[in-house]
Amino acid sequence: MSTSHHFKLVEQLEDLQDLPAIRNVPDEQLRCRVNHKKQKKRDISNDLEELAEKEQALTFSYQASKHEKQWLIGSLSDFYHMHWFDDILRLIKGGGKEASVYQCLGNTTTDVDYLAAKVYRPRRFRQLRNDALYREGRLLLDDEGHQIGDDGSLHAIRQRTQYGLQLMHTSWIEHEFQTMKRLYEGGADVPKPYACGNNAILMEYIGWDDIEAPTLNTVSLSPAEAQDVFDRVIKNINLMLDNQRVHGDLSAYNILYCEGNIKLIDFPQAINPDQNRNAYAIFRRDLTRLCEYFQDKGIHCQPAALAESMWLRHGYPIKLAVHPILLEPETIE
Ligand SMILES: Nc1ncnc2c1ncn2[C@@H]1O[C@H](COP(=O)(O)OP(=O)(O)OP(=O)(O)O)[C@@H](O)[C@H]1O
Ligand SMILES: [Mg+2]
Repeated sequence: MSTSHHFKLVEQLEDLQDLPAIRNVPDEQLRCRVNHKKQKKRDISNDLEELAEKEQALTFSYQASKHEKQWLIGSLSDFYHMHWFDDILRLIKGGGKEASVYQCLGNTTTDVDYLAAKVYRPRRFRQLRNDALYREGRLLLDDEGHQIGDDGSLHAIRQRTQYGLQLMHTSWIEHEFQTMKRLYEGGADVPKPYACGNNAILMEYIGWDDIEAPTLNTVSLSPAEAQDVFDRVIKNINLMLDNQRVHGDLSAYNILYCEGNIKLIDFPQAINPDQNRNAYAIFRRDLTRLCEYFQDKGIHCQPAALAESMWLRHGYPIKLAVHPILLEPETIE
């Protein structure tokens, strides 16, 4: 689908205007650097300066269509005002199942040249027909990463009101961010997550000045390189299990390859095997897809045996499989 076609579709989404403003999740570990700076600066003149700055709308050099621009301003302005980035340079990928990803120019306070902003399509998560499979045992998280517990919000979610659907949308994004944080801190090969709002995540940009790292499905690998990458992916899957996570949509499409290194991406549907009865079936499907890719590259691997041994080695019980058709993340169009 072309970018312009994608954004025509986005334009049609009726609740585009209703995106609530982003609030950054207070994060002690990953965000303290910027927060400290802000606290040190806290005197009246700086407060006034900040106020004036807030009034300045986010402008950027990326040439966006009218509605895309509005969507980006609604989703990324608070990050901009918090000095995470100075400019949106280009669209890396639009028209994904759930989001569009942009390359941004880092601010001097972030110590990185570029950031990747994953900005979510309104209602994407609301359209997942089988989202209950992934949500089982999950906490519903608000835009500060806290469990939603108040009766009003839970009622809105149960009734699937506009507000309830927005809360669920935010909860999926929070889950992606929290999963990335947990895995990054656990030493897995994932982009460093920086900040999260209720419609976007800011993370480490993987790639070069003008071009992002390709996904694994698009690169050609020698047999030796393929073996290295396979070993690295398995190591990461083990790390994920060490951290009670199953990716849930792992394939060569969700692995970036950059100068011999890999980064796993795209985690909103990740699940906790201790809390989700579908975890083993989902895990096996992840391994089956991966092994199909690596078998094509001449790597010898047997997904069923591999899945079983990895799973049992981590002490998880093998539970009844879910029908595979339920595992396809279809959307209702
Ligand atoms: N941190 C990053 N650095 C560079 N490129 C990235 C980064 N994260 C994502 N991308 C690019 O954006 C694309 C979409 O990201 P992601 O898979 O997270 O979203 P998605 O909406 O699920 O897309 P899709 O439906 O294509 O899987 C990736 O395939 C990759 O090309
Ligand atoms: Mg993806």
